[in-house]
Amino acid sequence: MKVSLIFSWLILSCCLMAFNDANQIGSLDRLIKSRTSEKPPLDESWGKLDAIDQEYSPVYIEPQDGLMEDDKIDVLPGQPQGVDFDQYAGYITVDPTAGRALFYYFVESPQNSSTNPLVLWLNGGPGCSSLGYGAMEELGPFRVNSDGKTLFRNDYAWNNVANVIFLESPAGVGFSYSNTSSDYDNTGDKSTAADSYTFLVKWLERFPQYKTRDFFITGESYAGHYVPQLAYTILLNNMNTNQTIINLKGIAIGNAWIDDNTNTDGMYDYFWTHALNSDETNTGINTYCNFVNGNLSSTCFRFLDNGDSEVGNIDIYNIYAPLCHNPMETNGSTGSIIHFDPCSDYYVYSYLNLAEVQRALHANATTWSSCSGYGWTDSPTTILPTIEQLIASGISVWIYSGDTDGRVPVTSSRYSINALKLPIETGWQPWYTSNEVGGYVVGYKGVIFATVRGAGHLVPSYQPQRALTMFSSFLQGKLPPSS
Ligand SMILES: *[C@@H]1O[C@H](CO)[C@@H](O)[C@H](O)[C@H]1NC(C)=O
Ligand SMILES: *[C@@H]1O[C@H](CO)[C@@H](O)[C@H](O)[C@H]1NC(C)=O
Ligand SMILES: *[C@@H]1O[C@H](CO)[C@@H](O)[C@H](O)[C@H]1NC(C)=O
Ligand SMILES: *[C@@H]1O[C@H](CO)[C@@H](O)[C@H](O)[C@H]1NC(C)=O
Ligand SMILES: *[C@@H]1O[C@H](CO)[C@@H](O)[C@H](O)[C@H]1NC(C)=O
Ligand SMILES: *[C@@H]1O[C@H](CO)[C@@H](O)[C@H](O)[C@H]1NC(C)=O
Repeated sequence: MKVSLIFSWLILSCCLMAFNDANQIGSLDRLIKSRTSEKPPLDESWGKLDAIDQEYSPVYIEPQDGLMEDDKIDVLPGQPQGVDFDQYAGYITVDPTAGRALFYYFVESPQNSSTNPLVLWLNGGPGCSSLGYGAMEELGPFRVNSDGKTLFRNDYAWNNVANVIFLESPAGVGFSYSNTSSDYDNTGDKSTAADSYTFLVKWLERFPQYKTRDFFITGESYAGHYVPQLAYTILLNNMNTNQTIINLKGIAIGNAWIDDNTNTDGMYDYFWTHALNSDETNTGINTYCNFVNGNLSSTCFRFLDNGDSEVGNIDIYNIYAPLCHNPMETNGSTGSIIHFDPCSDYYVYSYLNLAEVQRALHANATTWSSCSGYGWTDSPTTILPTIEQLIASGISVWIYSGDTDGRVPVTSSRYSINALKLPIETGWQPWYTSNEVGGYVVGYKGVIFATVRGAGHLVPSYQPQRALTMFSSFLQGKLPPSS
């Protein structure tokens, strides 16, 4: 299949916003672009979830006694007064021979942590950090002030209702590393899922009180690959392991890249329906681009190029948001959860590179960056067959979408879900929080699709309260409130 030369401008425009290596969108564009390169990532299949004759090699677990206590964070530099929950951070070795270790940050709930579910959060890329984005800019308990040194509390953090692990995955992202540098050239969807699974089994030895807890996996963007693939790996291994059975109950993926063809189609339809593209370009794309088989002609590519450049220099993650113009001018001000600061990437970068912060997190003294580049080895062009298997397994599957994201927009998610041809059980309806429509929801047989109104690609950054309402409903296994 063939997608794109077209994304090159997006890669350039990303760097106006992210001074360091890349951001989630830039990394996604690079991956999609690599599909037309001489060495494209392999479109590997993920097999069937049946228990017969599956090979399983036990995870090697060295003694974990005392390591949970060692990982406890005393205090994060610059954290506000009155922190009423426990935080942990550290490494889990996923391959002792290669010397490969994944870094996590774990926050418990202020209340009911001994009964609240356990949730894993994954950012996408591929190659972007769940600590830098998820924890520090989206759903974590703190955000970084514009001084790059102090933190303020997020009243709508997801640890209000769950115990949340932020995993920097795969090795090479953020503080996660390998002592075998060739590992970085042999990373793809399969190895990422395998390492994340090993991480979880060992993490549950370190935190045994969570072994039988209800467990959910959540994530956004390219985690539309990671999350279903890790869920699949867990379900497969649960059938064959003589070690920990992970009590997986469900997954939720936001603005998720799950199918190249429908996602690309949906992006250009979104551009036109949101007044970012001309009629002529839209007509050309509809006439010359065949997104059903993904075999795009050179005429099609010309129109896609036009479509990209007509958009201009906007924040494609959130088409109505301001850009970051002067990142370092503000000083020590108290940030606002309600008004997301478009320069947040800079503050997080400064904070996570302070030596005292790295020490407090038990992280390696290193230069932390939000995203890392890889030559990605394998990436299916569609995850829909894996999602179908998860539906058949009976776990709950939520797909949500911030409706002002232009890169993996709501149209892309709708086209992907439509391709699954699932019967509707609960028709399209608004859902509410604080007497406002928080978004819309439709219940299919096996999948809940929820939009979050006025949110961009990083849903909890832009609509923290609505995101928390939606997330709580997901955990409770019910639709978000209808009034
Ligand atoms: C990586 O190498 C360092 C230095 O030899 C060692 O201290 C560390 O334990 C190794 N990491 C892993 C995960 O084995
Ligand atoms: C904690 O659990 C109790 C009992 O189930 C419940 O009444 C209370 O609302 C919970 N608190 C929070 C913050 O969820
Ligand atoms: C699990 O099975 C392996 C062999 O596949 C065996 O070596 C190991 O001792 C078993 N572990 C437990 C906890 O039973
Ligand atoms: C793609 O389309 C071109 C013509 O537009 C055709 O020559 C080629 O065989 C097609 N490739 C596939 C894999 O269908
Ligand atoms: C920022 O704060 C520092 C002291 O904390 C002060 O020296 C500096 O002048 C301030 N800069 C601006 C732009 O306000
Ligand atoms: C990372 O930190 C661990 C202990 O926190 C240490 O054993 C290891 O050597 C460090 N690895 C590198 C690559 O610096």
